[in-house]
Amino acid sequence: MSKLWEGRLGGNDSSLTDSFNSSISFDSRMYKQDITGSVAHAHMLSKQKIITEAEALSITEGLWEILSDIESGKLKIDYSAEDIHTFIEQELTSRIGDAGKKLHTARSRNDQVALDLRMYLRGEADEIIKLLKNLIKILNEKAKLHIDTVMPGYTHMQRAQPVTLAHYLLAYEAMFARDCLRLGDVKKRMNVSPIGSCALAGTTYDTDRFFEASLLGFDAPCVNSLDGVSDRDFCVDFLEACSLVMTHLSRFSEELIYWSGSEFGFITMSDGFSTGSSIMPQKKNPDVAELARGKTGRVYGNLMGMLTVLKGLPLAYNKDLQEDKEFVFDSADTVKACLTIFAPMCEAMTVNADKMRKAASSGFINATDCADYLTKKGLPFRDAYKITGKLVAECVITGETLETLPLDRYKEYSVLFDGDIYEAISLETCVGRRNSYGGPAYDAVKIQTEVFDKFIKNNE
Ligand code: ARG
Repeated sequence: MSKLWEGRLGGNDSSLTDSFNSSISFDSRMYKQDITGSVAHAHMLSKQKIITEAEALSITEGLWEILSDIESGKLKIDYSAEDIHTFIEQELTSRIGDAGKKLHTARSRNDQVALDLRMYLRGEADEIIKLLKNLIKILNEKAKLHIDTVMPGYTHMQRAQPVTLAHYLLAYEAMFARDCLRLGDVKKRMNVSPIGSCALAGTTYDTDRFFEASLLGFDAPCVNSLDGVSDRDFCVDFLEACSLVMTHLSRFSEELIYWSGSEFGFITMSDGFSTGSSIMPQKKNPDVAELARGKTGRVYGNLMGMLTVLKGLPLAYNKDLQEDKEFVFDSADTVKACLTIFAPMCEAMTVNADKMRKAASSGFINATDCADYLTKKGLPFRDAYKITGKLVAECVITGETLETLPLDRYKEYSVLFDGDIYEAISLETCVGRRNSYGGPAYDAVKIQTEVFDKFIKNNE
């Protein structure tokens, strides 16, 4: 393919430079955004009488044809071209002749690539939000089935207080819902059009940047042309949002991995989402969750990579910026792949409610409730806490639990103890009375499932 700058630079063999310089192997995925952007540019140029209506018509028809030919497979992308922008412009000119050469009036590849990438990532943000909402939906359905499934809640990985599986799953739903909102914010900030910034310093043509921005669904054109071609904050924003999605998926993966081990046995992964071992016949490994946890590393790496590319770059466009795309594409692909498999994996896992309950029945998970019992009978909480601590210490020595300790032993520590202590420290009471807003009790959890039902329905 011929070079755009043939007139200026000599024709020495530069195949090494060409392949080093080329981005078409990874930016070809933006062909649709490139064509849509060019169609809008042609409309703007003709509205402003910079090109004729007939030229604009020929350009737009040619571009739509190229789009449909790429999509049908009739037109193969030429990977010897420098990038997708050059390929499409040259293909257009070879199809429609001189009018094609006018398309690039009052723009540059610098604003063109910034435009295409914003449009591409806008779409990716929408896709990820959709996948997140689907995951929330599946978790919410599971939560509704496990409103009464008592399990231990942990701090420091030590049994702390009883919760329910529904309550636990809803915590992850809350994280994924924030991820949706975060991506929405990222999209909003990204939705400013750089086109018309041209190479760096705007143009002498009488363009209408507001019109072109609105044709492409942007809220406004960017305010400063130097910033328009240099700004990749939107990539960092996007990568940061992807990183947090992965943080949440990775924490969740970690839980599912140890929950599915025989030491816990809280869940059983479906065979369809597990793998075996090449040597140990008994193995059933939670590879999907492990890979999601592992892929978090590459998504964080992409964020650090992007930040590092930007650091120290002077204004305006520098070729370093071409490196932006592989970071964001890889993160978008990775997040989408993880979310796509995570939802059915969660749907298909079996919950072993008996094991969860058994784990919640030991470990003095009801000690806070024992202290609260005394407090409700008038003892200051600190004193009640101390007495309960002593009771636990005695139980640890004698091998008792708070449920099995005889009432006369209780009474030795405080006369306030009565027969109703056993009911007060039963698992049902411990969970059932934790009815504060956001808590694990039935009514409190029901409110939470309703919140996320509504969240999913919003803009479904
Ligand atoms: N392929 C380039 C990129 O992705 C397009 C912009 C080229 N601009 C330039 N001045 N060489 O950044």
